[in-house]
Amino acid sequence: MRIDVLTLFPAMLDGFLSESILGRARERGQVEVAVHNIRDWATDKHRTTDDRPLGGGAGMVMKCEPIFAAIEAVQTPGCRRIYLTPDGVPFTAARAEALSHESHLVFLSGHYEGIDQRIRDTVIDEELSIGDYVLTNGTLAAAVVIDALARFVPGVLGEEKSLTHESFTRCLLDFPQYTRPATYRGMAAPEVLLSGNHTAIEKWRREQQERKTARLRPDLLSKN
Ligand SMILES: C[S@@+](CC[C@H](N)C(=O)[O-])C[C@H]1O[C@@H](n2cnc3c(N)ncnc32)[C@H](O)[C@@H]1O
Repeated sequence: MRIDVLTLFPAMLDGFLSESILGRARERGQVEVAVHNIRDWATDKHRTTDDRPLGGGAGMVMKCEPIFAAIEAVQTPGCRRIYLTPDGVPFTAARAEALSHESHLVFLSGHYEGIDQRIRDTVIDEELSIGDYVLTNGTLAAAVVIDALARFVPGVLGEEKSLTHESFTRCLLDFPQYTRPATYRGMAAPEVLLSGNHTAIEKWRREQQERKTARLRPDLLSKN
């Protein structure tokens, strides 16, 4: 899979792209990510990427020219161009999985008051929000979406089965996890986990998932 990120702040992604699971996925060639500075496509002397809103009002708006040029430079036939925005469709695990099947994704991160609507109307295929809050720019939002979808790319997570019980798979939150020692500071892990009885362990975990989901996210149960 190929991913291009268009942002005014490429350095924000340095650590994210080189560390941990995503860093290894890139080294192995499972996910190829290129980060571009939108300013490189600004053509005026001051390399301007924003201007005052037409009609007046506070803040600045990202201009058409550099963004159209940036998208046209990196896009390929059939690629999916995604704008990160708080008024986009809420991003979910299901969407992450679907996007992991694409061969080329282009992520556009906005700044200031956002981007000129004509960009959204013509060269964007999908708009995603990572939550009901407003970030200063979309670079971290792009990182969140990339991280979540990369986990679904075959081979990226060493153990494929670690996806099967995750929160949101089958509309349930994850069960509580324990590791050694079995008792720590007087707190004992549930006995069933030490029983070696896999049927009983599965049953206990499923019950825990259902109970936790009912308590914290009852809305998920109605999607089952
Ligand atoms: C300050 S925000 C613009 C907010 C916009 N004026 C609004 O009220 O919807 C600047 C940029 O951050 C990004 N951004 C902010 N919050 C986001 C969110 N919850 N999800 C995805 N992107 C977000 C977008 O790329 C946006 O263009």
